[in-house]
Amino acid sequence: MSTVKVTKICCIGAGYVGGPTCAVIALRCPHVQVTIVDLNKARIDAWNSPDFKLPIYEPGLEDVVRKARDRNLFFSTDVDKGIQDADLIFVSVNTPTKKSGVGAGFAADLNYVELATRRIAAVATSNKIVVEKSTVPCRTAESMRTILEANSKPNCRFDILSNPEFLAEGTAISDLFKPDRVLIGSLQTLEGKAACSALAEVYANWVPADRILTVGLWSSELSKLAANAMLAQRISSINALSAICEATGANIDEVAHAVGFDSRVGPKFLRASVGFGGSCFQKDILNLVYLSESLHLPEVAEYWKQVVVMNEYQKRRFSKTVVDTLFNTITGKRIAVLGFAFKADTGDTRESPAITLIRDFQSEKALINVYDPQVEHEQIWADLTEASPSTPLASIQKQVSICSSALEACKNAEAVVIATEWKEFRDIDWEQVYKGMNKPAFVFDGRLLVDADKLRKIGFKVNTIGRGERM
Ligand code: NAD
Ligand code: UGA
Repeated sequence: MSTVKVTKICCIGAGYVGGPTCAVIALRCPHVQVTIVDLNKARIDAWNSPDFKLPIYEPGLEDVVRKARDRNLFFSTDVDKGIQDADLIFVSVNTPTKKSGVGAGFAADLNYVELATRRIAAVATSNKIVVEKSTVPCRTAESMRTILEANSKPNCRFDILSNPEFLAEGTAISDLFKPDRVLIGSLQTLEGKAACSALAEVYANWVPADRILTVGLWSSELSKLAANAMLAQRISSINALSAICEATGANIDEVAHAVGFDSRVGPKFLRASVGFGGSCFQKDILNLVYLSESLHLPEVAEYWKQVVVMNEYQKRRFSKTVVDTLFNTITGKRIAVLGFAFKADTGDTRESPAITLIRDFQSEKALINVYDPQVEHEQIWADLTEASPSTPLASIQKQVSICSSALEACKNAEAVVIATEWKEFRDIDWEQVYKGMNKPAFVFDGRLLVDADKLRKIGFKVNTIGRGERM
């Protein structure tokens, strides 16, 4: 088995995965030239910006890019050249849920993966290892191989690997520096195993050998969907229990602590919340549901679907609690929503629960002040417009205002809703917030973030998700 030595890598897709992942590869492998390409010029310009105003906010990312950019890390819109120069190509493009056609609302839209694959076939003039980095349904690698083989030039050989990414936003750089595992799937042929070793050798520059797992292609593809489904399932499970806590007087923190103490369960990912968001959990579960249905496994499909159903219920339940508690009406009342990103330490808003909460408050005719430390204002307007497509932006802007600080957002409000667990919300001057609010002043903590007792001493009426105390 002759192992190919990887010296030039191209990554197609300069997004939340392609950017940080390949920047870290470049940092840790100074002998490898890494070029990240994208069709989106504005995104590439931001990656190349002289003042390092990168297109995504991720703690530690700027430092990595500062060290590697223009050394062995390059960002370019020249996709064809990137492909031609590389020995190994990561396909790290978006795979959103299909909006129309067969499988709409469930299946992954593989159009971007297919276009990138066809481009590789069209322009490659030498052998390539093509690595599926995007999250895709089981057996997508087979389709990629068929497309590549049907369109390639003579003497051009393609080996396909699956190497799903497990980073979480907000901790992407530390996840990439010290991954729990790197998973590489390949065909179990001599050539497939050689390609797998070539990629494993790249990661071996900083990842211990016992953390690099090599498996079959289909297991690798399915493991990624399975990992996300099982993580999301834990959140829906704890959120389902949070509803029981609220009804019984139990405390979800104490329940999670007690349950998580069992070493078989473990303490992580048991934080009750207003619901999970992010670009992947819902998308990947719906993808798994679609896969199960396509495989004529309706009970399996139904099982996984419930994880998403419970998440929707949790968001709805939370907005209803706000309305119920504010004396069954929030019409004309000002609600401060703190946080718009789907989690702390990111500017990403995809599937953020804050979007659903604000849409619910809008439909109750409330006035909403939003503040988020990272999310761009245009992004907030774009998300709110997408959430209420029949309402013109001008009407949305009559109800929603974007503020430049938490204090400003809370001024003259009846209630504060914590939608994202940004640390700064724990540390704001709550005495000052209280003085500026209408009374009674309510806080709804959807993230188990603030010290409820401290806030009650100030005078707030506090409602925390998963806590049964009565106000
Ligand atoms: P993203 O939307 O941030 O980035 C994808 C990029 O690909 C975009 O910039 C787009 O312009 C570019 N692109 C699309 N088609 C292209 C083409 N044909 N040629 C060149 N560029 C093209 O998406 P993301 O969040 O980075 O996710 C990428 C994949 O990784 C998805 O499958 C996702 O499920 C998976 N994933 C995401 C995360 C995460 O935290 N965001 C984590 C693990 C896995
Ligand atoms: C998640 C997975 O954690 C990554 O391993 C995976 O690579 C990624 O999806 C992906 O495939 O895109 P991410 O969505 O970036 O990462 O962030 P998470 O930390 O998983 O949080 C997802 C959502 O769940 C957030 O809204 C978060 O607030 C919520 N969450 C998380 C909870 O409500 N409770 C918890 O205990 C943990």
